[in-house]
Amino acid sequence: MKRFAVLTSGGDAPGMNAAILAVVKVAAFRGIEVLGVRRGYDGLLDGDLRLLTREVSGTSRLAPLSEVEDNANDGGTILGSSRCQRFFDPEHRKHACRQLMDHGAEGLIAIGGNGTMAGAHTLAPECPQVTVVGIPASIDNDIGATASALGVDTALNTIIEACDRISDTARSHRRAFIVEVMGRRSGYLAVASAAAAAADAVLLPEENRTDEEIISSVENIIRDSFATDRQKSRVLIIKAEGVTISATNLVDAVDDRLEGNLDIDLRATVLGHVVRGGRPTYHDRMIAGRLALGAVNALADGADDCMVTWNTTTLGGDSTDDPRVHRFPLETVIAEGKALLDGSSDVTQRRISRMKTVQGVLAL
Ligand code: F6P
Repeated sequence: MKRFAVLTSGGDAPGMNAAILAVVKVAAFRGIEVLGVRRGYDGLLDGDLRLLTREVSGTSRLAPLSEVEDNANDGGTILGSSRCQRFFDPEHRKHACRQLMDHGAEGLIAIGGNGTMAGAHTLAPECPQVTVVGIPASIDNDIGATASALGVDTALNTIIEACDRISDTARSHRRAFIVEVMGRRSGYLAVASAAAAAADAVLLPEENRTDEEIISSVENIIRDSFATDRQKSRVLIIKAEGVTISATNLVDAVDDRLEGNLDIDLRATVLGHVVRGGRPTYHDRMIAGRLALGAVNALADGADDCMVTWNTTTLGGDSTDDPRVHRFPLETVIAEGKALLDGSSDVTQRRISRMKTVQGVLAL
């Protein structure tokens, strides 16, 4: 392989820039040129591609452009991203394939979440001249077959840091807080951060509870926590974004029930996009490097229509030189991702049952 393209698509995730640099460095070391696609699949359709490698003058060696090196440890993505609607249209995808071929790309590395992998899986058979490999990146950790994705560890560290700060002020005033964290369809960030933040409860979309059940459970936790024989100094409840009742409506509804009974101040903080930004942690930089190496090796081996995984959660897949990194067909990744979100996956079932066991302990 002489040249391939790389893009980032969907929600950005800390570690994407580290992965781009690692992809470019590994490729340059092997004498392969790398084209960067701006703005994900949108940029691919518009032919917005440029080289991220340059020839080192006076030699036949390749090196990364300085902008790729200089921003490797920043959050976001230097290539830009998009959620591209046009890519659902086969006519547009034909154009994307033509753009790759016109630019001399023999392969494509797509870095992103479920939507990105679905786009890559649709493109792969329609564009046989170009092999396609995915690198999982999404703070939501809702991608099939991989135990983690770029950005998850950084997002969790951001959440616990924010919860610690909120707890400082909450304790000073003996307040209760509902803290909403990102996760449109997956409660992973809420579950995974709850114990580390010493939260008193966690609210997840996967539990499929009605608004009424959620309101009563929050009311009960607050009553128990501030009861005279318990006297907690603060209550912290982590709510996943995907739980349909909004944090402010939940606070209003619980406030109405508590009124007159307890002198309690209940507040809501929505962390929102704060959770998605920031410089990647050691763990995200480390997996960025190892997944990037796995992805470039996959392209060089002629692998197609697959994604590299970190500590796989599913049986199967092809092993690589790195015991933590496997290659899975994108078809399996997508099917497993759907099962993760609709609750039918063993991984989701285990998370929910672990959470049910832990709920009582958190509330102590
Ligand atoms: O990246 C995934 C995610 O962070 C979801 O948790 C969140 O709901 C969504 O992206 C927000 O995306 P956008 O910034 O496009 O509104």
